[in-house]
Amino acid sequence: MRLYRLPKFTSIDDLTLSEAPRPTPGRGQVLVKMHAASLNYRDLAIVVGRYGLAAVPQNVVPLSDGAGEVIEVGEGVTRVKSGDRVAGIFMQSWMGGEIQVTDRGSALGGAIDGVLAEYCVFNEQGLVHLPAHLSYEEGATLPCAAVTAWNALFTQQRLRPGQTVLVLGTGGVSVFGLQFAKAAGAQIIVTSSSDEKLERARTLGATHGINYKTHPEWEKEVRRLTDGRGVDHVIEVGGAGTLQRSLASARLGGTVYLIGVLSGVGQQIDPMPILGGGVTLRGIFVGSRDMFEAMNLAIGVHQLRPVIDRVFAFEQAREAYRHQFSGAHFGKVVIRIS
Ligand SMILES: NC(=O)c1ccc[n+]([C@@H]2O[C@H](COP(=O)([O-])OP(=O)(O)OC[C@H]3O[C@@H](n4cnc5c(N)ncnc54)[C@H](OP(=O)(O)O)[C@@H]3O)[C@@H](O)[C@H]2O)c1
Repeated sequence: MRLYRLPKFTSIDDLTLSEAPRPTPGRGQVLVKMHAASLNYRDLAIVVGRYGLAAVPQNVVPLSDGAGEVIEVGEGVTRVKSGDRVAGIFMQSWMGGEIQVTDRGSALGGAIDGVLAEYCVFNEQGLVHLPAHLSYEEGATLPCAAVTAWNALFTQQRLRPGQTVLVLGTGGVSVFGLQFAKAAGAQIIVTSSSDEKLERARTLGATHGINYKTHPEWEKEVRRLTDGRGVDHVIEVGGAGTLQRSLASARLGGTVYLIGVLSGVGQQIDPMPILGGGVTLRGIFVGSRDMFEAMNLAIGVHQLRPVIDRVFAFEQAREAYRHQFSGAHFGKVVIRIS
């Protein structure tokens, strides 16, 4: 079978198409014929050797997010059967409850081999069924970006109808945040560097759009659009360069979900808005299998369809990475495997 590996971590050109024997499932394991995979910003950090959250072994098979069909099950498997349409969960050992330190060592396409391969073996516990109305390409967008947005909005400080959500940018996590918030009956404010993307966000249900290039002090716009009150929830993917403004955008007692660091790390943050504003700052690290399954139910009920920007062929994996990391995309970038 064909698969990609990363023999070193310096650039996208390190992605190497290789051959390996097709794996066979052992006891409790499942062989999945992979049909599609999707990219996340994390995958660039890994390919260029800048992923700080876990050690990544040499020759790892990249990408955490993929979907396919079960074609063989090992002895004792009961959760899935041949023909089932499934996706791998991001951290293979995080089933539910709070994340454990060891779960970080079970992340696909990072600590352990990922899904950019024609066939993958998973433990039966590390899979979920796809929502029935989704294609494999759509299903492949869910494990990281969608579960992260779901974990933020629906597991602790739960979003309620009528509340307001601010999402930063129009990448994978943020567009899922927008779709979930819309389905939950919220108002949504989106920021973007592009007026064209803001227009697209409006067609998906965003109430307001703010161009953060033409409005560098966008938190003031957020206040203006909410009659000075601020928003209830912030999907914060920018990190050091945006966190202070996200905190200033939150209402008294609101919540900022710190998810990404697209604009960098290491800057000083003034803690006073957290203290004086009673703002909850909550770090998010993807989510558990329980969260993934709860999200899939909601995706099914609302017949939500992930927003796919572009689909690349398996042989075009490097081009897919370049497209994702150009920032030109809106939503998710997918690689068709078969
Ligand atoms: N903690 C977790 O569990 C978790 C899970 C998933 C992702 N993440 C992190 O979350 C971040 C987003 O991931 P992703 O996969 O959704 O990325 P992505 O699809 O590559 O998103 C890129 C988009 O983010 C927007 N953006 C970039 N810089 C920005 C800034 N300074 N302010 C506002 N928006 C900005 C841009 O949108 P416009 O083009 O519209 O301006 C850009 O197109 C990454 O840092 C990633 O590592 C973390």
